[in-house]
Amino acid sequence: MTDSIRFLMCPPDHYDVDYVINPWMEGNIHKSSFDRAREQWQSLYHLIKENAIVDLVTPAKGWPDMVFTANAGLVLDKTVVLSRFYHKERQGEEPYFKIWFESQGFTVHELPKDLPFEGAGDALFDREGRYLWAGYGFRSELDSHPLIAEWLDIEVLSLRLMDERFYHLDTCFCPLTGGYLMYYPPAFDSYSNRLIELRVPPEKRIIVEEPDAVNFACNTVNINQMVIMNKASDNLKARLQEAGFTVLETPLTEFLKAGGAAKCLTLRVTEPIIIDRHAVINIESRTVLMEGHLLDAGLINRALDLVVEGGGSFQVLNFNLGEQRQSTSKAEIKISAPSHEVMEEIISQLIDIGVVSLDEDQRDARLQPVEQDGVGPDDFYVSTIYPTEVRVDGQWLTVQNQRMDGAIAISETPNGLVAQCKILRDLKLGERVVVDVVGLRTIRKTESREPRNGPQEFSFMSAGVSSERRVELIVEQVAWELRQIRDRGGKVVVTAGPVVIHTGGAQHLSHLIRQGYVQALLGGNAIAVHDMEQSIMGTSLGVDMKQGVAVKGGHRHHLKVINSVRRCGSIAAAVEQGVVKSGIMYECVKNNIPFSLAGSIRDDGPLPDTQMDLIKAQEHYAELLRGADMILMLSSMLHSIGVGNMTPSGVKMVCVDINPAVVTKLSDRGSVESIGVVTDVGLFLSLLVNQLDKLTSKYGVVQVG
Ligand SMILES: NC(=O)c1ccc[n+]([C@@H]2O[C@H](COP(=O)([O-])OP(=O)(O)OC[C@H]3O[C@@H](n4cnc5c(N)ncnc54)[C@H](O)[C@@H]3O)[C@@H](O)[C@H]2O)c1
Repeated sequence: MTDSIRFLMCPPDHYDVDYVINPWMEGNIHKSSFDRAREQWQSLYHLIKENAIVDLVTPAKGWPDMVFTANAGLVLDKTVVLSRFYHKERQGEEPYFKIWFESQGFTVHELPKDLPFEGAGDALFDREGRYLWAGYGFRSELDSHPLIAEWLDIEVLSLRLMDERFYHLDTCFCPLTGGYLMYYPPAFDSYSNRLIELRVPPEKRIIVEEPDAVNFACNTVNINQMVIMNKASDNLKARLQEAGFTVLETPLTEFLKAGGAAKCLTLRVTEPIIIDRHAVINIESRTVLMEGHLLDAGLINRALDLVVEGGGSFQVLNFNLGEQRQSTSKAEIKISAPSHEVMEEIISQLIDIGVVSLDEDQRDARLQPVEQDGVGPDDFYVSTIYPTEVRVDGQWLTVQNQRMDGAIAISETPNGLVAQCKILRDLKLGERVVVDVVGLRTIRKTESREPRNGPQEFSFMSAGVSSERRVELIVEQVAWELRQIRDRGGKVVVTAGPVVIHTGGAQHLSHLIRQGYVQALLGGNAIAVHDMEQSIMGTSLGVDMKQGVAVKGGHRHHLKVINSVRRCGSIAAAVEQGVVKSGIMYECVKNNIPFSLAGSIRDDGPLPDTQMDLIKAQEHYAELLRGADMILMLSSMLHSIGVGNMTPSGVKMVCVDINPAVVTKLSDRGSVESIGVVTDVGLFLSLLVNQLDKLTSKYGVVQVG
């Protein structure tokens, strides 16, 4: 027996599965055997008693989980941080444990009422006492960690739990004597896994596989070189033995029904103490402000979800709810993250939905010089589609050429400082680039009710193909917009793939161009080739467009067409020489509509107009997109996604594709102005042309008889 090691246990007199607060309890209400539970608990108790001192706390009736004393609190030396249970089902245990700790002379620290922390279930000391691993995500709140660090004077390393089955840190993580760590990596997010790997060298990491993890192998009591657990596979036993441990198995199946095993049933009250230790807190906090129709537009939920999904936690410090339908609400939120890196990621997403830092927290953006043409500093801020402002020398600059996936470059000009979005290759030596996420905000109209970044705008197609009526409604809406844009001299850009031709849509798109609804066309080699194939030979990819049947040898048609156009020197020349007499390309040339054909690896020919230098093609696309009011994206995944990335928010986008995944991919950019239509593109274009003709027809004169 090791005199110096003490544990606290609680006899299972009132143990049962009475409610469901974790996945293990599901289907197990009142399914545990009282006798077997008592027997299993006794075996564990005796095993530990042979090796350490065990104190007992008196079980209280009505609190069946009191048997899991790991959740009584977290003890270091003569100090205890008492648990604040997350679920009301366990909150009644708190006073009983408090009485016990006080009776034993511990200094008891209690967390604020709404700050859950579940004791040694979610906080495990490195066995040399150098630091404390603390879990969060299910039961304990990240914001409890700084208080624990301060009260126990120790460095706290926060780990985020991701798998509901492993809801407490001690269900999937077990520091062992000699600096070893037995754990189940998939229970943690990637940041936490990196942190573990930074602190524990590879030879000390004992990775547990899923079958052992679900047998609660990590829920182990470690006394010096001994590990006591419910069950371990031969592999795990061998690995532990190799590391110098003796494995003792003692079945605890009755307690597994409640989601606990050996470690959960014990609380170690004598932990190794390092005298020269200091509180170290890696957690970063920031306070941000949100303003607008926070509830109607679902913005507040979206913001809080982003914080939690990103690995942080939040506290709403103030919430002023607008009283009338038109009044806006205001919320002040404190956000915590386990590291600067995680905070940066969370804040950059919050900036996208219009969250701003509080006035007192407003700082200039951090800028770093470009040290090599075409290469940004390491942690450059990645731009989004939203209108952004950046604070330089105390002054907010509007970012020009807003687009997604660029860097924000600041340059000095005779007219002062200029901020603009640039793609990496355009960065120039000497320019300064925004890094980090301070001094940035996106501009969102506070009166807007549109759920920016919300999935709603695309939700109608996420169920699959939109219903016919739904398509008709969207066509009506798009037709109305097209008419409005044309009448006010606006700009509509179409990006289209060859499917437009194969589905019989060429005549409709040609009609739109002729009628002045299209101001620029973007595509690849294929749409132009197949359009002209149809014009010259009546086929599209060898299929007779009138009969709908494949023409013998028709697959060669498009190559012949490419050859003819190459002979002419350009598409425009082919039109002027009468080689191409109708179709989309013909209408573009005849109506002076600029087009850009971007090359790709699968292009035949290519046509003389196809730009095979991709950088030039991207630049030409960007030029034609500038000033667009609306973009119609017609059945080309490649070009639609390319165009989507180049376009700032505020431009209406209509994406038509038969594949919901393509439409959803475009919705990921989160623009509220986007509409997705899952339907056949030929059908869409024919409905659109009909609707436009209806909208623009002369009023019929009613004959009075
Ligand atoms: N002969 C050639 O030179 C040739 C031929 C084909 C493609 N290409 C080139 O390959 C690149 C990619 O071509 P892409 O744009 O055809 O392919 P893509 O895969 O990028 O896009 C085709 C899209 O059309 C959708 N689609 C299929 N049938 C549809 C229908 N009936 N209605 C609506 N949507 C439908 C698909 O779901 C897909 O998203 C382009 O650069 C193109 O020019 C060249």
